[in-house]
Amino acid sequence: MKRFLTGLQPTGSITLGNYIGAIKQMVKYQEEYDSFIFIADMHSITVPQDPETLSKNIRSLVATYIACGVDPNKNTIFLQSENIYHANVSWILECNTPYGLLGRMTQFKDKSQKHQNFMAGLYTYPVLMAADILIYDSDYVPVGKDQKQHVELARDIAESFNKRYGKEFFKLPEPLIPEEGAKICDLIDPTKKMSKSAENKKGVIMLLDDEKDIRKKIMGATTDSEMIVRYDIETKPGISNLITIYHELSGMTISQIEEKFKDSNYGTFKKEVADLVVSVLKPIQDRYYELINSKELDEVLDAGKIKTTEIAKIKYEELKNIVGLYR
Ligand code: TYM
Repeated sequence: MKRFLTGLQPTGSITLGNYIGAIKQMVKYQEEYDSFIFIADMHSITVPQDPETLSKNIRSLVATYIACGVDPNKNTIFLQSENIYHANVSWILECNTPYGLLGRMTQFKDKSQKHQNFMAGLYTYPVLMAADILIYDSDYVPVGKDQKQHVELARDIAESFNKRYGKEFFKLPEPLIPEEGAKICDLIDPTKKMSKSAENKKGVIMLLDDEKDIRKKIMGATTDSEMIVRYDIETKPGISNLITIYHELSGMTISQIEEKFKDSNYGTFKKEVADLVVSVLKPIQDRYYELINSKELDEVLDAGKIKTTEIAKIKYEELKNIVGLYR
């Protein structure tokens, strides 16, 4: 059975973009793959975090995964920092990654501008991500478009490591990018991705937003003056973004949606988008609040820690031998 692995950072509330771009793929693929899903908590401290809030967000993310349909019986769910081998493997990979390659990462360029006096971890972040992926011999890595470059880097690191040491030691992973939903955009500025860290929260739907806020945000989404519900990402990014959201949550094709709303004005269309988003998020929220303080979360993470530590230990020992770290 092919293996897939993916993770999200526990930095603030999960957005509709994360749900459509990442979590929905997990739920889909859990049926056909041996799936490893984790909380990338070590990645999140590459920028400053309040410790107490971070800890709460970690728990919240596990509850979110499960509430969204990631089934603990079909997936290995774990916390990155509870498996010490990620950081160990990452170090060896750092020593096998050309410095210049990391400076080319788009996310580094963006984030290093946003954070004054940023830390070294922000620069080496993609190597830790490569370690996450390569330790488990992952075949596929489902991510949104913004993370594709990092998965490609993991593949490059694996390839050059294998070449350098003359062994097919690391499997070359492939990114799995969902077509339309690969990028859900901000409702106010639809040329930017919907992001947890956006300054203006009016453009961002959080999975735990209440119904009133969801409706308000969607009704306030930026549109255009054409007044036709038509998909055209270049000239109508706002309406195209709403069509994408509708498509992802209803399963209807873009042309079916255009046909359905051909006589509707933007107000009617937005109201239907809001109805759909509310109907999808309501059961997720109910399940989330049942789970958040339950023991079930700890049991799931304990099992994940034991299983992934066993697997990673074997890979790490082999890796140490290959590079000569033995006596
Ligand atoms: P993170 O936490 O930024 O995002 C988690 C996932 O959500 C996707 N995503 C989106 N998809 C569509 N539209 C959006 N607006 C949107 N915003 C975010 C991201 O592409 C991602 O798939 N570095 C990763 C976490 C990570 C990881 C890994 C992932 C660490 N190690 C190994 C896969 C494999 C990150 O910061 O994701």
